[in-house]
Amino acid sequence: MATSPAIEVRALSHAFTGERTVEALRDVNLEVAAGSFASLIGRSGCGKSTLLRVLAGLIEPTDGAARLNGEDVRGRPGHAAYMPQEDTLLPWRRALGNAVLGLELQGVPRSEAEGLARPLLERFGLGEFMRAWPAELSGGMRQRLALARTFLARGPLLLDEPFGALDALTRQEMQIWLQEVWTAPTADERRTALLVTHDIDEALVLSDVVYVMSDRPGTILERIEVPLARPRALTVVTSPAFAGLKARVLEALVRGRS
Ligand SMILES: Nc1ncnc2c1ncn2[C@@H]1O[C@H](COP(=O)(O)OP(=O)(O)O)[C@@H](O)[C@H]1O
Ligand SMILES: [Mg+2]
Repeated sequence: MATSPAIEVRALSHAFTGERTVEALRDVNLEVAAGSFASLIGRSGCGKSTLLRVLAGLIEPTDGAARLNGEDVRGRPGHAAYMPQEDTLLPWRRALGNAVLGLELQGVPRSEAEGLARPLLERFGLGEFMRAWPAELSGGMRQRLALARTFLARGPLLLDEPFGALDALTRQEMQIWLQEVWTAPTADERRTALLVTHDIDEALVLSDVVYVMSDRPGTILERIEVPLARPRALTVVTSPAFAGLKARVLEALVRGRS
């Protein structure tokens, strides 16, 4: 049976207009199959966040198509579980209150949202911290909380550099942790995910498919499948197969330099 991909971008271009026109994206094409994990890698400023914002319905693109589960989402927020690049935990809400924010924005009543959030916070290792304020949490815990909020919202996961602010070791541990929570509980319940990063290891450790983007205006240079067995351990980065994949990503990134 032919089904449309969960995330689909066709001939997408976007230019920001203002005092100066900035061409951010040019003729971007990508798709993510339902239940699979994809990454979009590119250097800083190449248009990655712009593309996620288009898919989150927050930017209306100049040209092209953006669909989630077959539905046109251009200029229509609320169809994706979007985690922005900047830290968006509200300091005046406790962990539980922050976790339910996405559901509240999608119109779910607070008490129902809390009922859904509690088991997920347990699963994300935050069971003891539901009543903690964001300022009382470590960097890794804050990111798990932000991810819990994102997982609770409906639609494909759109994750914009979720570990960008963490130190290297915490970051690697969080990648393995994200793989675990994404994999559980069963393969057919896996969420479709598109993760944006500029970290090659992160993209390869987590993904089924990696899309490499050129410098601005961003366009897709290469689609690389990652056939490494799951679950992947931290040490997967030292395997010869991993090194081969990494070389392909690097080569494409160098080709895409402006
Ligand atoms: N709201 C905006 N107005 C004008 N230019 C923008 C805006 N948002 C992003 N840009 C520009 O678009 C380009 C791509 O930005 P962005 O998508 O944030 O890149 P990335 O996430 O890959 O670092 C950059 O040159 C950035 O300065
Ligand atoms: Mg960005």
